[in-house]
Amino acid sequence: MNDTTLVLSSFAEDVRHGLLQTPKTLPSKYFYDEQGDKLFQTIMGLGEYYLTRCEFEIFSEQKEAILRSFLGKDDSFRLVELGAGDGTKTKVLMNHFLQTGTSFTYNPIDISQNVLDQLKSDLATTLPKLQVEPIQGDYFDALGELNMNHSSKEVVLFLGSNIGNFSNESGQQFLNKLGENLSPGDLLFIGFDLMKDPQTILNAYNDKLGVTKEFNLNLLRRMNNELGANFDVDQFTHFPTYNPINGETRSHLISTTGQEVYIEALDTTVRFDAWEAIHTEVSQKYSPKMITQFAEKAGFRIVENFTDEGHYYVDSLWEKI
Ligand code: AVJ
Repeated sequence: MNDTTLVLSSFAEDVRHGLLQTPKTLPSKYFYDEQGDKLFQTIMGLGEYYLTRCEFEIFSEQKEAILRSFLGKDDSFRLVELGAGDGTKTKVLMNHFLQTGTSFTYNPIDISQNVLDQLKSDLATTLPKLQVEPIQGDYFDALGELNMNHSSKEVVLFLGSNIGNFSNESGQQFLNKLGENLSPGDLLFIGFDLMKDPQTILNAYNDKLGVTKEFNLNLLRRMNNELGANFDVDQFTHFPTYNPINGETRSHLISTTGQEVYIEALDTTVRFDAWEAIHTEVSQKYSPKMITQFAEKAGFRIVENFTDEGHYYVDSLWEKI
C-alpha cells in the first residue's frame, strides 16, 4: 500500500468496473437507495406496471388453495420471505392464514435492517397475532441460520419476479444454491413474469408519467451524491428493450450527446460518445417451459402453478426432492 491507494466502497468498485468496460453497464441492485425505494413503491402502483397487480390478484383470489398446498400433509410451517420489502402482498396471504387458525411463523429476510424494522413495526399493528422473526443479512447466510435452529417445514417465498434481475444462467445458479439450502419436502413459492404482448411489456418499463425513467436516472443521481460524480441527468435518456426470442427485457441509460463525466471517488473521467448506452437492468420474462427447466435442474418438483386471469404472471410452487 502506498498513499495513492484508495479504499473503495463496493459501489465505487462496481461503478469503475461497469463504466470502464465496453459496452458500459451498471448493476441494478444500486437502484435501491432511499429515493430509489420510494420510486419503486410508486412504480408498483402504476397502471402500466401490471406485475404487482397480477400477483396481488393471485393471492387475493386463490389464498385458500395456496394455503392448502403450503400445508400439504403437515399442520404447520415456517414462512420465509427472501427480500421482503414492505410485505403488502404477503400480508394478504398471512391475514388469511391467521384467520383460518393456521400454525405458522414468519421470517422475513432482507439485506436492509431499515426495511426489516419498518416491516416489523407495521406488522405489529396490522397483524398483531403474527409471530415475526426478521433475519438481517445475505439470503443464504440467513437460510443457513434458520436450518441450524429449526427442523419444521419451510416455505420460502421469492416474489415479485425478483428472479428476473438475474440472467438465465445466474438465475439457475441461484435456484440450485437455494435447493441445496432446503431439505426434501420444503417448498419454494416463486413469482415469474410471463412472456406476453411485447408492447405490454415495454409499456411496463416506460410508463407515461416517467416514473421508471426517474428510477433509472436515479442511478446517476446516486453516483453524484455518493461518489462525487458530475452527471448531468438531462443529458441522458431512458430506453427499455424487449427481445421476444428469449424474453430478455433490458433497461438502458443513453447519453444523448458526446460528453465527459468526472467521478471524484474514482478520480476518473468517463467518456461517452453521442448515443452510447449504459445497460442498467435485466427484467427477464419467462415461458412455461423455461420455468419447468429451472425447477428440474435445481432439484425441485412443480406442485402447482397459480396464475392470474389474464395469464400475465405465475406464482409457481415447487417442492424440494
Ligand atoms: C423488482 C426487479 C421485479 O424488474 O420489474 C421495475 C424492478 N425495474 N421497473 C422489475 C423494476 C423497472 C422490478 N423488479
